[in-house]
Amino acid sequence: MPPTQIYGTMTSTTSKETLASAITVGYRSFDLAERYETGKAVGEGFKAYLEIPGRKRSDLWVVSKLDGLPSEGYEAVKSRVVEMLKLANLEYFDVLLIHHPLRRGANLDSLDGEDLRDPNGQGWKFFAENIETAWGSMSRLVSDGLATEVGVSNFYEQHLKLLQSSIQAKGGSPVAWSQSYVDGAHHQKALVDHCQANSIQVMAYRPLAFSQVYQMIEPLAGVFPVGEQEQPESPQALTMEWLASRGISPVSSSADEGRMKANFEAGRRGEAANPAWASEMQKVFDKVAAELETIEMYGGVDECAGCFETMGAG
Ligand SMILES: NC(=O)c1ccc[n+]([C@@H]2O[C@H](COP(=O)([O-])OP(=O)(O)OC[C@H]3O[C@@H](n4cnc5c(N)ncnc54)[C@H](OP(=O)(O)O)[C@@H]3O)[C@@H](O)[C@H]2O)c1
Repeated sequence: MPPTQIYGTMTSTTSKETLASAITVGYRSFDLAERYETGKAVGEGFKAYLEIPGRKRSDLWVVSKLDGLPSEGYEAVKSRVVEMLKLANLEYFDVLLIHHPLRRGANLDSLDGEDLRDPNGQGWKFFAENIETAWGSMSRLVSDGLATEVGVSNFYEQHLKLLQSSIQAKGGSPVAWSQSYVDGAHHQKALVDHCQANSIQVMAYRPLAFSQVYQMIEPLAGVFPVGEQEQPESPQALTMEWLASRGISPVSSSADEGRMKANFEAGRRGEAANPAWASEMQKVFDKVAAELETIEMYGGVDECAGCFETMGAG
């Protein structure tokens, strides 16, 4: 069974100590990226864990992400991954993803949404012209033992369909994982359904970052009790349970060990949820999604993901 609770290492609060706390509460799966500035601390955390007698590499399940489409030659891509592994103190990644469908180093904080939407714009053109080469390199990384499985991040159905038809025509590793922004208001049902129908496992990033907004919205009053953040009925805990009950692996983080534990345990409850509970939970989050416009007005949305979602759509 694939891991369902993944600890994210993007934020500047990530340290060797927070990694140790995450391990203490039960996390064994971690999300890294070439572009995150926390690589050194995370590598030190893995090293400290693996130095404890009895601990082994196979206890951990580590995802990392190459910055953008790896469109340069294979040897150059391989040397980037070798550097990423060196920093992480590992010999292979369990999963390696393409972080986003643009060029390496693209400024994700100020994307040109209009250009990305345009099927003749630079963004979509670059993607369509380079995805085949990029996937060829991803597949070779698997053959060379640097990654066990490969996948994508910030790809939507239009990206996946192009990639899947290229794999069908040219061969290559299957797309095993897709990591994208999914939270209580943004369910990404079409994307998740497409992935699950094509045996692509889904990871949901930033599932909690905007959930405090739900409690500010009048029609959602009473849906989630206001109080301790660690309680099982908090929006954060219920989001973790609901995602896990949909067969989605949440990628979340907290700087606080109590909240990490609450999140981890909530996800575990979701994994074991029965269909009746899952359908009740779906009704709760349908109420949240019905307030999407207000939630976004309060800033409850990852705008970068929104740009990728409409990429190439015209
Ligand atoms: N593929 C991509 O493009 C992409 C993009 C963004 C993120 N990611 C991945 O997703 C991971 C998670 O992203 P993220 O950290 O932005 O979002 P997140 O994990 O959804 O939310 C983190 C925020 O929620 C708070 N929080 C966590 N648990 C809580 C709880 N039980 N109660 C109340 N507040 C809680 C945290 O505050 P405290 O720390 O104070 O608890 C923090 O402010 C990243 O580390 C990264 O690995 C991937």
